[in-house]
Parts: sequence; C-alpha cells; structure tokens
Amino acid sequence: MGYVDWNRRLFDSLIPLPDGTSYNAYLVRGSEKTALIDTVDPAMAGVLKGQLADVERIDYLVSQHAEQDHSGAVPLVLEMHEECTVLCSPKAKDLLVDHLGIPAERVRTVEDGEALPLGGKTLRFIHTPWVHWPETMVSHLPEDRILFSCDFLGSHVAMSGLYAGGDPRVYEAAKRYYAEIMMPFRKMIRNHLKKLRGLEFDRIAPSHGPVYDDPERILSAYEGWVSDEVSNIAVIPYVSMHGSTEAMVDHLAAALAERGVTVEKFELSVTDIGKLAMALVDAATIVIGTPTVHGGPHPAVYSATHLANALRPKLKYAAIIGSYGWGTQAVEKISALIPNLKVEVLGTVLCKGRPAEGTFAELNSLAEAVRERHASA
Ligand code: FEO
Repeated sequence: MGYVDWNRRLFDSLIPLPDGTSYNAYLVRGSEKTALIDTVDPAMAGVLKGQLADVERIDYLVSQHAEQDHSGAVPLVLEMHEECTVLCSPKAKDLLVDHLGIPAERVRTVEDGEALPLGGKTLRFIHTPWVHWPETMVSHLPEDRILFSCDFLGSHVAMSGLYAGGDPRVYEAAKRYYAEIMMPFRKMIRNHLKKLRGLEFDRIAPSHGPVYDDPERILSAYEGWVSDEVSNIAVIPYVSMHGSTEAMVDHLAAALAERGVTVEKFELSVTDIGKLAMALVDAATIVIGTPTVHGGPHPAVYSATHLANALRPKLKYAAIIGSYGWGTQAVEKISALIPNLKVEVLGTVLCKGRPAEGTFAELNSLAEAVRERHASA
C-alpha cells in the first residue's frame, strides 16, 4: 500500500529528490490478526484511506519510525479502526504522542526481539536505533521471508514496478539516501547490519523506494559504505566570485588527476547537495575552496562545510584553498566548522588576488601530498 510520489522534489525543506520518492505501507494478514506496517505522509492520508476501504479489521498498526512521512496517517487509521493498537519501540511512544497527538492508551511498546503472532505468520521486531531517529526498528516476517526496514536501506525514487531487480537507478538513489540521511550513524549501522545478517529473508521491503528482491546487493553495498575503507577520491566543494579561486581549483584538479587521484568538483552555487553528499561517502580527501567575503568564507561554503561536518563522512585528509582581496580569516573560520571530521590537514593554499606561479607550485605540492597519503591509506 502507500503512494508513489513522482513529483516531490524536496524533503525536510533541505534534501533534493530528483527522482521523487514513495511512502510504502504493508498489510500483513494472518489467519487471526491483521497488521498494517507504517502509513504514509500526511498529505497522502486520503490515498491510504481509499486503499484500506475494504479492510475490515486492523488489529495492529506497527509504527517502525515516528517521522511524519510514515506515521502521518496513524491518527486516521486509529480513527477508522477502533480495534487497532499501535505497536512501536519504547522510544517511539513519546514521539508519536508528542508529534502526532496519538492517545498514549492506544500505543503498546514492543521489546527488541519480541514476536507478534498473527496466525500462521509472525512479526518479530528488531530495534535498530538511529536509522535515523532514536526510536527506529525493523520487522521480520520469517514465514514469508521478508524484512520490513522502513527508512533503513531505503531509496528516494519513484518507480512503477514493485521490485528493484538490478536497476542501477535504485542503487544510486539508495546511496544518495544513505549519504544524506544515514551516514552520520555509520558505526551504529554497521552493528545493525550484523544483526540483519543473522536473519533469513529473500526480500527487503523498505518504506521508501521499491522492494529489494536481491537483498545481498543492497546489504553488501551498505557494508561497503559504512566500512572504514576510503577510495582514491578527492572532493572539491568550492565557490569562486571573480575566477581566482576557480583557477586554483582547476589547477589542483588537473594536478591531482595527473597523479592518478579521482577528483569530484562541486561549484556550490549550482550543486545538488545530494551529489556532494554521495561523493563524500567514499572519498579520502576534501579540499574546500573559497573566496573571502566579509573576512571569512563565502556563505555557500559555510553551508556546505556545516553539512559535511554534520554528515560525518569517513574522510581522512583535508585542505583549504582560495583567493582573498586584502585580508582573510577563511582558514580559521572553516577549521572551526569541522570538529566532527577526524582528518589530517594537509595544508592551506591562499593567495591575494589572482594566482600566479608561486601559488600553482604550492597547489602542485598539495596534490603530491594527497597522492602520497592516498597511496598509503
Ligand atoms: Fe522516511 Fe525518517 O522518514
């Protein structure tokens, strides 16, 4: 059940959705009880209402995640079905009450590993906190060999088919989703993946994007993303106001490429921040390029640097480059923005006005330092 939202282009007023998304809900019918797993975004509550019109009973509404795009229609389902009890993790209960005004007496909490018999089918709940809220959990249906994972392993992509198959668009969207939403919780996700490896299932049914009918593919992709392994990639987010910083970036990019380092370059005034986040999933190095505005970095650089710090990518090295007019505190201000990045700073290259020979030589040295570190990483 649910809704494929082909036209949505922004999530949380922050995250670009170039390929739309979906809000998936699942109805599990046992011989004795029926459970609905998650609901839809509040804007689509009417769609779910229509889909549930011929469902006589919903004994349980399993709310795996309290964020509104999945819990938004919980109040409607409770209104339609007086017999229905919401099941959720202990941490989800307060969130559902506080964020959606759900009466506490209609909510029952479930423990990690608890099983819910439905008659010939069983839902077993596994707590997976911080994917990406503190209350998140997944549900395993062993009889049908399905794992319901809500946001975890999901993808923001609208498609007409039910299954992902081997469609590369889905795995691209899943990586974008991981980068933007899950990456800050990389180490916890590693443990959750180990838990999931202990379960038997043939399909993973997330609450965004199509159902995975080849679970190994998404699980192994995630295991790579959350590992400590970095790739020989330097990401260069930058802004240039009059071309000097861009000339520095272009020189450095060419010097890195000559040395066999893959470069991903993002001019921040036109960048899709999801693409930048995806590049940070595997990169070993970030080089921030900025002109100086009002004594510090360009506001777009502030914003992207704040985001990179919040996403906590597994970067190992960093550098700052840029041109300034007459004075600058860009390095000090950028350094203060990235306390979460546990990186070795390979250097800073700043120049007053247009870059000349000396600056290009410094950039060559920086490129060489990046190459050396990547070779030994
Ligand atoms: Fe899809 Fe965290 O909500």
